[in-house]
Amino acid sequence: MLQSILILLVASWCVPSFATSTLRLPVVGSNPSDIVITSMSLTDQRRADPFAKDGRARAIMVSGFSPVSACRRSHLEAYMPPSTAIFEDDKFAAYGLPNGSFQSLGLQSCTNTPRLCSSGALPLVVFSGALGTSRIIYHSMLQSVAAAGYFVVSVDHPYDADIVEFPDNATIIGVDISDAELGDALATRVEDITFLYRELANPSLRNMLLPTHRHSGGIPKTAIVGHSFGGAAAALTLKQLPYLRGGVNIDGSMFGSVLETGLDRPFMLIGHENKTQETDPSWKTVWPQLKSWKKEIEVKGAAHYSFSDLPLITSVLGLQEKLPADIEQVLGSIEGHRMMKLTVTYVTAFLNMVLKSGSEKEFSRADTIFSEVVKAV
Ligand SMILES: *[C@@H]1O[C@H](CO)[C@@H](O)[C@H](O)[C@H]1NC(C)=O
Ligand SMILES: *[C@@H]1O[C@H](CO)[C@@H](O)[C@H](O)[C@H]1NC(C)=O
Ligand SMILES: *[C@@H]1O[C@H](CO)[C@@H](O)[C@H](O)[C@H]1NC(C)=O
Repeated sequence: MLQSILILLVASWCVPSFATSTLRLPVVGSNPSDIVITSMSLTDQRRADPFAKDGRARAIMVSGFSPVSACRRSHLEAYMPPSTAIFEDDKFAAYGLPNGSFQSLGLQSCTNTPRLCSSGALPLVVFSGALGTSRIIYHSMLQSVAAAGYFVVSVDHPYDADIVEFPDNATIIGVDISDAELGDALATRVEDITFLYRELANPSLRNMLLPTHRHSGGIPKTAIVGHSFGGAAAALTLKQLPYLRGGVNIDGSMFGSVLETGLDRPFMLIGHENKTQETDPSWKTVWPQLKSWKKEIEVKGAAHYSFSDLPLITSVLGLQEKLPADIEQVLGSIEGHRMMKLTVTYVTAFLNMVLKSGSEKEFSRADTIFSEVVKAV
């Protein structure tokens, strides 16, 4: 569906060119701490890459977001690495984003030095994004989640993501994944995430990815969050890793064995306008199988990519009023800063409940702020 909308927009929208200095994507939330942002590649020597089909070991890219209690020096970090920015500029020209948009964006990052202040034993959140979508399109959102007091790690699944750029500047462009191949792609994602989780048990690797992590007892309490296909991956990973405390599926249909066997830990479904149990049969099927705490919400005015950095990016670039009207089918109609606050508020309400307080009270507070959110069940 997304693809057909894009084609339509390409035909009807003229893309102006555009040059700017770097614009900072803001951190949202009431109590933002400074964050160190890192990225690295990890190679799973135990597993051949199922997409590459040439026997090479599966390599993934991951990003880490680490809260810092007292940041001495920060800098504006390019939002995207160079080849990714050029690729995404080209792709999102169809949305009406001027050429150079992604190159012009930055995130405030605390500069990684050997003497960073630890922020104590904070819990961990693992994130996996949509099919055909770079993990970086969620970095602003994940920075805001981290600022609420979490270590966050996000994963790119090469060949499934539209583009993955490695530290040696090599890139892997995504392939078309047919409906028949979705099951295999999902299994690969779950293996990528379980591999990452295994790697995090290695203290020296953990120090590189999450430099302020000082948890002597190994990996902290963890929950998993995913958008779209990443939401399906979150559910399946939750099922496979019994020590994960809970999961959030943002706007993704459910696939695989969870449909029959369900989940025994807290799980939340967040849908855009009209994505509910009534319109998505997979949500209806899984609902009675969710045996622990569960919640389903619908966000009026949101569309599928509302739950990414894109609405905030269009607001920061001053484009929200200038984009073609059809873009609402993809990015929704909620203003970008507000949409980002909404997503971060509900995701952190869930995380705080399962990883910190045990209490649901932040949901009722959020409901008084965001009238767009309706409880679907
Ligand atoms: C976008 O700008 C880059 C230079 O920054 C240029 O190489 C590229 O051709 C431009 N793309 C379009 C579609 O104009
Ligand atoms: C990657 O590209 C950047 C410039 O974009 C360059 O500075 C760097 O040396 C390159 N790295 C490698 C390993 O080629
Ligand atoms: C959601 O469904 C209602 C009722 O069918 C409809 O009026 C509305 O236009 C739909 N919204 C979207 C975004 O499709």
